[in-house]
Amino acid sequence: MDSIRELINKLEKCHILSREELCFLIDNIGQEDEAYLYDRARRTALAHYGNAIYVRGLMEFTNHCKNDCYYCGIRRGNPNLTRYRLKEEQIMDCCREGYELGFRTFVLQGGEDPWYTDDKIACLVKGIKSMYPDCAVTLSVGEKEYETYKMWFDAGADRYLLRHETADPCHYARLHPNQMSSEHRKQCLKDLKAIGFQTGCGIMVGSPFQTTAHIAEDMEFMYELQPQMVGIGPFIPHHDTPFRDKAPGTLRQTLLLLAMVRLMLPSVLLPATTALGTIDPAGREKGVMAGANVVMPNLSPLEVRKSYMLYDNKISTGSEAASNIKELKERMEKIGYRVVTDRGDFKRI
Ligand code: 5AD
Repeated sequence: MDSIRELINKLEKCHILSREELCFLIDNIGQEDEAYLYDRARRTALAHYGNAIYVRGLMEFTNHCKNDCYYCGIRRGNPNLTRYRLKEEQIMDCCREGYELGFRTFVLQGGEDPWYTDDKIACLVKGIKSMYPDCAVTLSVGEKEYETYKMWFDAGADRYLLRHETADPCHYARLHPNQMSSEHRKQCLKDLKAIGFQTGCGIMVGSPFQTTAHIAEDMEFMYELQPQMVGIGPFIPHHDTPFRDKAPGTLRQTLLLLAMVRLMLPSVLLPATTALGTIDPAGREKGVMAGANVVMPNLSPLEVRKSYMLYDNKISTGSEAASNIKELKERMEKIGYRVVTDRGDFKRI
């Protein structure tokens, strides 16, 4: 086996390593090589996107969900939260505020809520796109059939986020009830890409029962899919879920994986996630320094934010609030980056 340094160089040059090499790298990297990895990843992001940080206005428009994922705070089985749905006018108000603040991407994220039918979502997309033709719309509303995704794409949606959560079917089955399958989720991602969406997959780092081999498998899956976006954040337990007592993922693990994904998919759009900002007050900055180039501030109305707790202590009012974009800008400038007013589309090399 090559030395750690050689493996990092190989990942940068060839973009993929064998499963054994990936596992060896993850399990054996030490502090000095970590600093080297982050530096290579950061330079790769700079080479593709310069020092621009793209922002996405996140609208959590419904917390109703028909799924019962064991890790998630808004799972169907959690009775201890106030369920809400934003109305179309409220969503349009969020967009107006977001546009004025400089956002040129709006993300509609929600639980899998049957009340929001395929047609209603298509209408929302059309409404936003006709009012803001210079903006991108990203959907993140879970698993649907090909025809639905196609209809939303034809309605004008540009991007779709659907984390695969874990590429390993057995691991997937330990995080989700029987009704959900890894196979269907992967099929959705393939459909989304085939339709023409800029597509995002991703995982939680340190999710319960996750092994190094699982992470290596996730990387292989991502390499095969070649997504335009990858969402990676630490798992954080939520007190009203079956995983309440499980250990959270760590900052270090998350940064390591962000940097490895940057080297594997050099021009990927890679957010420094809210979960990363939740486990460490400087998490987003550290993420950027490890190769991330996107931040997704919260544009949802203040009064519903506490009801969209996917995990405990989820931050939503500091520099992660869209209204505090000035603070985010300052924080990014302090580390040599600039928040830009731009759709921030995927750039093919
Ligand atoms: N910790 C971290 N991330 C979580 N998500 C859901 N629950 C948690 C949790 N407890 C992530 C999932 C999902 C995304 C919207 O939020 O990866 O795809």
